[in-house]
Amino acid sequence: MLRVETPFALTAPAAAVRARPILPLEARGLVLETAGRRLVDGLDLELQPGALTVILGPNGAGKSLALRLLHGLLRPTAGAITWAGRAADADVRRRQAMVFQKPVLLRRSTAANLDYVLKRQSLSRSRRRARLQELLTLGNLLHLARVPARLLSGGEQQRLAVVRALACEPEVLFLDEPTASLDPAATLAIEALIERAHGAGTAILLVTHDLGQARRLAREVVFLHQGRAVEKAEAAAFFAGPRSAIARAYLAGDLAL
Ligand SMILES: Nc1ncnc2c1ncn2[C@@H]1O[C@H](COP(=O)(O)OP(=O)(O)OP(=O)(O)O)[C@@H](O)[C@H]1O
Ligand SMILES: [Mg+2]
Repeated sequence: MLRVETPFALTAPAAAVRARPILPLEARGLVLETAGRRLVDGLDLELQPGALTVILGPNGAGKSLALRLLHGLLRPTAGAITWAGRAADADVRRRQAMVFQKPVLLRRSTAANLDYVLKRQSLSRSRRRARLQELLTLGNLLHLARVPARLLSGGEQQRLAVVRALACEPEVLFLDEPTASLDPAATLAIEALIERAHGAGTAILLVTHDLGQARRLAREVVFLHQGRAVEKAEAAAFFAGPRSAIARAYLAGDLAL
């Protein structure tokens, strides 16, 4: 059984002590075209301070591409992304993190994957060691600290990817189906980490197909279809009755593409 509660508190993002805000994040008219296909087609999206927004939508809707565009891994064909009114720069990139649909880990041990991130922060040696233990405990990975990350199970790799993203103390966290391969207890443990980060001030943009998870976590829902945000609503209103026929069909599980 995974331990959800830990005696440690996640450190609040350093937002409070940083002068320049990076939120709201605003995407206007984002387009991504490759080989004549419009994969993202005029996407508008905002992320306000304190947001916990869930992106829903069928396979191929453009959810992962949207997160990659916002994170800065892809350059849009057209449209603009601004962070508190300015374009992303090195400062913005340092202050946001992403967990990918398929975990991207270094060919090193579990602990070394986390320590790689901690090394880039100016921490004393003892503080760095303490943070490492804290993060391993948060991810229920203490017993796997010395194991090469590539030998971890899919779910263990995903837990490592999530706590590694949290190690950066990001002000904005993009999560692409972070619990897709996790068992129910591990899923709840990751959700607890997400809630804790959100409580500490991190704005969250989460993609999931797990509707239970969306109901548990979302404050706001954005429904994507064919590269466009077809519906944006407060979560309770969305789940009580989506406005768009496509979102209703998705929730009912009878979306025929
Ligand atoms: N590098 C690429 N080159 C060409 N097409 C791509 C590329 N990446 C994604 N696509 C296409 O863009 C569309 C959107 O992909 P995306 O990965 O964003 O979907 P998604 O909404 O995340 O779906 P899923 O729920 O299956 O993860 C898909 O039709 C996919 O085939
Ligand atoms: Mg995807």
